[in-house]
Amino acid sequence: MKLNEVREKYLKFFKASPRDHKEIKPAPLILSDDPTTLFTSSGMQPLVPYLLGEKHPMGKRLVNSQPSFRTVDIEEVGDNRHTTFFEMLGNWSLGDYFKKDQFAWFFEFLTSEIGLSKEKLWISVFEGSKQVPRDTESSEIWKSLGIPESHIGYYGAEKNWWSRNGTPDEMPVGDIGGPDSEVFYDFGEDLKIHENSIYAKQKCHMNCNCGRFLEIGNSVFMQYKKVGEGKLEELPNKNVDFGGGLLRIAAAAIESPDVFNTNVFKSAIEVIEKHTGKFYFENENKAPMRIIADHLRGAAFILASGVEPSNKLQGYIARRLIRRAVYKLKVLGFEIGDGTISAFIKSYADEYDEIKNNWLQIKDSLNIEAVKFGKALAKGEKKLRKFMEKGTLSAEEIFDLYQTEGFPIELTLEIAVSENIKVSDSVEAEISKQFKSHKDKSKTTSAGVFKGGLVDKSEDTVRLHTATHLLQAVLREVLGNHVIQRGQNINSQRSRFDFTHDKKLTEAELEKVESLINEIIKKDLSVNKLEMKKSDAEKTGAIQAFGEKYGDSVIIHYVGETLKSAFSKEFCGGPHVSRTSDIGRVKIIKQEKIGASTLRVYLSKSK
Ligand code: SER
Repeated sequence: MKLNEVREKYLKFFKASPRDHKEIKPAPLILSDDPTTLFTSSGMQPLVPYLLGEKHPMGKRLVNSQPSFRTVDIEEVGDNRHTTFFEMLGNWSLGDYFKKDQFAWFFEFLTSEIGLSKEKLWISVFEGSKQVPRDTESSEIWKSLGIPESHIGYYGAEKNWWSRNGTPDEMPVGDIGGPDSEVFYDFGEDLKIHENSIYAKQKCHMNCNCGRFLEIGNSVFMQYKKVGEGKLEELPNKNVDFGGGLLRIAAAAIESPDVFNTNVFKSAIEVIEKHTGKFYFENENKAPMRIIADHLRGAAFILASGVEPSNKLQGYIARRLIRRAVYKLKVLGFEIGDGTISAFIKSYADEYDEIKNNWLQIKDSLNIEAVKFGKALAKGEKKLRKFMEKGTLSAEEIFDLYQTEGFPIELTLEIAVSENIKVSDSVEAEISKQFKSHKDKSKTTSAGVFKGGLVDKSEDTVRLHTATHLLQAVLREVLGNHVIQRGQNINSQRSRFDFTHDKKLTEAELEKVESLINEIIKKDLSVNKLEMKKSDAEKTGAIQAFGEKYGDSVIIHYVGETLKSAFSKEFCGGPHVSRTSDIGRVKIIKQEKIGASTLRVYLSKSK
């Protein structure tokens, strides 16, 4: 069964009576007005306001197939199932049907439409926690559908709780989530996948990483909102948020534990085989070929969104994917030449309209980047090999390769590790700091320039950034502590600040907010920063941004002479002015209600 067939069957099935879902247009892969995330990474992402209770114009039953991209999976690609770009089949109930219908319909889709045998399905459900009961209800429904008890397992929040930020403990205040039930397809003991894997010594179970079981769908019961440390509150509606991997269902349909055997990748891999003269069935070629096939498809989709390879944001991800693919092609014996890269993405143009319709632009951008890197690679690798002759690699050498040859740090490390070269202990810390910052930049909700929502670091942008901290502190003073940042986008002209509040501000409130901010600015308070352990930082009462994930060590920016007496304290590592008087007068130029509980205000310099 081809990917296109699975997609069509799914949409048709959920649109048909009695399921009666309305098909919604998928969101673009890159959301132009959401600075907190690089890519759309799940079908539910654009639906958050509706899961929170807002009425959706298309009704309570929605379905689509959402092109998604997960940068956190870049390093995972190479096994039998991970990809960076993927299509997520999604159906949603916004306070309408719940567990019984969801399971019955998905079960019917898998067994009747796709033809999977029910004996091969395994189910995981939530084992329960202090706040949320054990999900025996889901287990009973699955049993009533004919799934034997031996195929149903209870797991904790690590596995069977879904929110964009992880477990309930990891969810920031304001985030939504719920228990989930995952369906796995079992390729069976006979293939000896587990025995032949690095996990052979452990017991195999449905969540084992060996590859015998493939997770093909996840029904999330979006019922809760985090309202405080250890506190979950029921949402107004009991929602269903289902996400299924199109590619994985197609793989199960053809009885292949390897998703790279599905039609889309099969054609791409045949091209790689043809040009490299190597064969996919030989184990040592599998990982590099999967990386090439996945990364070039992912890059093509990013380029199709109008992004060029660069050192910033989505452009950096495209660059990283292309460079890694070019390197893997070289490992397989293929040297990139002018125009040769397009051969590897040709089959995707036949499969995806996004690639076909933007073919010329994708082809050119890909070619320029690949050829440029191909040249740097030849030169840089010579230098790298020379450095590696002594059996070690220092931080200085790695940075030298990065700065002078454009040799990506992660690639240098990847080559060093694969050739058993020692990266000396004294510089490990330094490298991993660099490496981590690169990695962090690629995460969806991430550090650095992406997280801060600052478009640039010009003086005016930085002034407005500090002013935005004051804005949040003042809004909390005037409106209450429910005010929490939901997003921000700041350039040299204006700051756009989204926060939790369910109605527009009155004229009087607006005036008060504006004048309080300007008062603080006039007071010429100092703006300070402190780096500390996250657990200590939390105790200070500093505000964390909505939906943000922080590392173990965080930076707090505070306005005032001491942290204790500070007027504003926030988790924030971005650039700020050193005294509030550096900001100059500001004014609120506009406000917009952008969701049931989200307000947007614009702040700018005042003359
Ligand atoms: N939101 C869930 C996921 O991404 C199900 O759609 O897995």
